[in-house]
Amino acid sequence: MAGRIPQHFIDELVARTDIIEVIGNRVPLKKAGKDYKACCPFHDEKTPSFTVVPDKQFYHCFGCGAHGTSLGFLMEYDHLSFVEAIEELANRAGMQVPREEDPNARPKPADDLYATLEKAAELYRRELKGSERAKEYLKARGLTGETAARFGIGYVPDAWDTALKHVGVNQEAVQRLLQVGLIIERERRGNANPGHYDRFRDRVMFPIRDARGRTIGFGGRILDKGEPKYLNSPETELFHKGKELYGLFEARQNSRNLNRIMVVEGYMDVVRLHQAGVTYAVATLGTATTSEHLTRLFRICNELVFCFDGDRAGRAAAWRALENSLPEVRQGRQIRFLFLPEGHDPDSLVGEEGREAFEARLGHASTLSEYFIRELSSRVDVHTVDGRAQLAEMARPLVNRIPQGVYRELLADELSRVVGMSAERLLNLLTTERTGTPRAQPEAAPAMRRAVRPQQSSPGRSNLVRQAVRLLVHFPGAASAVKNADALHTVDRPGVPLLLELLNDLSDNPCPTTGVLLERWRGRPDYESLVKLAESECIARSSAEAAQELSGAVDRLVLEDQPARRFQELLDKQAAAGLSREEKLELQGLLSEKAARSGSRPRRT
Ligand code: GTP
Ligand code: MN
Repeated sequence: MAGRIPQHFIDELVARTDIIEVIGNRVPLKKAGKDYKACCPFHDEKTPSFTVVPDKQFYHCFGCGAHGTSLGFLMEYDHLSFVEAIEELANRAGMQVPREEDPNARPKPADDLYATLEKAAELYRRELKGSERAKEYLKARGLTGETAARFGIGYVPDAWDTALKHVGVNQEAVQRLLQVGLIIERERRGNANPGHYDRFRDRVMFPIRDARGRTIGFGGRILDKGEPKYLNSPETELFHKGKELYGLFEARQNSRNLNRIMVVEGYMDVVRLHQAGVTYAVATLGTATTSEHLTRLFRICNELVFCFDGDRAGRAAAWRALENSLPEVRQGRQIRFLFLPEGHDPDSLVGEEGREAFEARLGHASTLSEYFIRELSSRVDVHTVDGRAQLAEMARPLVNRIPQGVYRELLADELSRVVGMSAERLLNLLTTERTGTPRAQPEAAPAMRRAVRPQQSSPGRSNLVRQAVRLLVHFPGAASAVKNADALHTVDRPGVPLLLELLNDLSDNPCPTTGVLLERWRGRPDYESLVKLAESECIARSSAEAAQELSGAVDRLVLEDQPARRFQELLDKQAAAGLSREEKLELQGLLSEKAARSGSRPRRT
C-alpha cells in the first residue's frame, strides 16, 4: 500500500498552484476588482455570486455557500478523491508525488471487523428467537415481529461469554471482538494471561448501521429495571457516536428521496415511529446533536424536525440542538422543533394516537427563530430595558453563529421587535465584538480610520478570539507579529486552544496563503471552522494591518479576560439558577459599562 503524502509536499503544491488557472480552465471567470467572478458551477444562478480570491487562493459562493481551495475545487468539480486531486495538481505542476515510507502499513482489517459485527448481530437475532422473555418484552412494548426484523433487533442472553463463545473462535477473532467493543479485557492478575468477558449481557440488542447498512455497533437495552438502561458500543475504529444516527439507513431504505427527517432521542422512538409509518425518524446515540450530524442530514434533505420529550432533559437537548444548528442555517433549509406534552416521548405518543394525529402535531412545531426568541425571552424580563439588553447580549454569540445572509437578517428583524430597536442597529450591536473592537473602544481607532472602513459595522464577527483566528486565516503571515502568544495559555475562552495551535504552527512553518493554511488543516477537527472563517469578511485589508490588529487582539485577550469572564459567568448563572441581589447589581454594573463603551444601550421605547 502506498504511504502517506508528506504535508510539506502538499503545502508546496498548493502554494505553487494558481487557483485562478485551475478554476479558470473549467469555469469562465471574469475579473471584478482584485477578484474573479462567475456563475456558480455548484448551483443554478443567473447573476454571478461565485468568487475566486487570488490573494487568498480560495473560492466561495455567496449563493450556495460552496467554498474551498484549489484542491477542494478539484475534488468537488471533478469529483476526485483527495489523493486524486493532489495527483492532478502535481501533474500540472510537473511534480512527482512522494510517499512516506511506512514500514507498519498493512491493509486495514476493517472488512474483518464488519464481518465480526455482522456475525454477532446474527447470533443475537437467533438468541431472540429462542428467548420467550425477550420476545415477550418487545411485544409488551408494542413491537411487531416484522419491525424487529426490519431493524435487525436481537437479544443477548445473561452470560459472560455469548459473543466470546460463538464469535471468538480463535485468538484473532477474540482480538477483533475486542476491537469492535463486544468484549472487555479482564484486569491482569500477576503474569496470567488476561481473559475476556462480554460487554453486553441480558439485553435487547439494536444493531447500529452505517449509511451502507453495515453494522458498526450496538445499543443494548436492559429488559427489567436496572442501570444503565442503555449500553452502547464504545467508540471504535468503525463506530463514532457523534457522527452516526440510528435509523438513518432504515429511513433511506424506505425512501430513496427523503424530503424530511425527524430527529428524536431514543432507539425505541425510532423503531416505534417507523412501525407507525413515520419512516423518516432517526435518533442520536445518547449524545447531543452535533454539527457533524447536521451536516450529514442536510446533505440528504432540507427539512429537519427535532422532536424531543416534553420534560426538562428534552428541552435541554432541544436547546443544544438549536445551538449546534445555527451554523447550518440558511435559506432553503427548514429547521423546526416539536415539543411533546410532558410525560410523553415519541414512542408513547405515536403508540397512543397513531401516525396521523402525531404528524398533525408537525403543523404546530416551532420554527427555529420562534423557539430561539421564545427561549431567550423567557430567561429575562423583556419589560425592562436591562432585560432587553441582556436578551440582546445572550443572542449575540448565537446570532453570530448563523452564516451571514438573509436568514440572519430575518432573525435579527424578529428579535428587534422584542428588544425594541431597529433591526439594523440590533444587528450592529449583535455582530460587534464582545470586548474592545476598535469600534467599541474609540481610543483604539480614530474616527478617520473608521470612516474608511465601512465593513466595521457589517455582520460576520463575534468575539475577539474568533477575530484573531480569522485574521490568521486571511493573513497567515501576521502570526509573526504576535510576541506574547504564551500568555494566552491562561486565557480560558473557547477557541483559544485553536488560536494557540495556529500561532505555534505558523511560527514554525509560515504559510504563504490562506489556501496553503487550509490544506494543512484538512482532516483536523477545526478544518471546517477555519474554512468558514476564510469565507467570511475580514476587517484587515493588508498583511500589515492584519499584523497590527492581531497583536492588538492578543494583547486585549490577555488583558481584558477578567470582566468578560465574570459577565458571562453571571449570565450563565442567571439562566441556570438565578442570581442573588448582589450578583444582579454586579451584572447591571458590568452591563452599563459595556453599554457606555459601545454607545449602543437600547433606549426606552
Ligand atoms: P425506553 O423507551 O425506556 O426504552 O427508552 P427511550 O428510547 O425512550 O430512551 P430515553 O428517552 O430514556 O433515552 C434516550 C436515549 O438516550 C436512548 O435511546 C439511549 O440512546 C440514551 N440513553 C438512555 N439511557 C441511557 C443510559 O443509561 N446510558 C446510555 N449510555 N445511554 C442512555
Ligand atoms: Mn421511551
